[in-house]
Amino acid sequence: RKPLLIAIDGPAAAGKGTLAQSLANRLNLPYLDTGLLYRAIGKLMQIAGLDLDDPQAATVVAEKLTPDDLRRGDLRGREAGELASRVAVHSGVRAALVAFQRDFAHGPRGAVLDGRDIGTVICPDADVKLYVTASAEVRARRRTDELLAKGRMVDYEAILSEVKARDERDSGRAEAPLRPADDAIVIDTSALGPAEVLATALAVIENRP
Ligand code: C5P
Repeated sequence: RKPLLIAIDGPAAAGKGTLAQSLANRLNLPYLDTGLLYRAIGKLMQIAGLDLDDPQAATVVAEKLTPDDLRRGDLRGREAGELASRVAVHSGVRAALVAFQRDFAHGPRGAVLDGRDIGTVICPDADVKLYVTASAEVRARRRTDELLAKGRMVDYEAILSEVKARDERDSGRAEAPLRPADDAIVIDTSALGPAEVLATALAVIENRP
């Protein structure tokens, strides 16, 4: 059987990353968190004092991005996510990242990729497309609890408005807006724990045509 390619999309904090990681472990597939690409570009621009809303400047940074840039320690936080969604609106930035993502997706061992446009733009040919979502309130609650558990001072209402702002930017942009592919299976994680989400996804994968 040919190697499996799994595309996972969905809004921020819906549980995509957790699911992608578990599927990759369980099925022994290489995993690419494509959000890291946009996060790294945002962070590099901020450090260089560049204007994140300048499409040309952002595209130059995207074209020079190397895998080493993804190993920075400060990419997973809220701030980098915010910077990422600002640079992700530029078509030049997105175009610069296509080849890297497709090469990863079509490696000899198959792959799991997660992001916003994997099923729609990067891998329309994926064997399985999952769209992982949850209400904004549930996502904000999870993110708040995660941060509280790390001992950080956070306010649920502030996180909720951040989540909603990011949804709006990601779904409202002209280029590769966030949306489920026509042939994606939607998994609403609002009432599911990580183990149930994984079981649901594994069932989808096993029962695919
Ligand atoms: O998934 P993550 O929260 O790391 O993504 C950060 C931001 O990067 C998203 O809000 C989105 O704007 C952008 N992104 C994207 N396309 C992807 C992955 C991430 O536009 N495939």
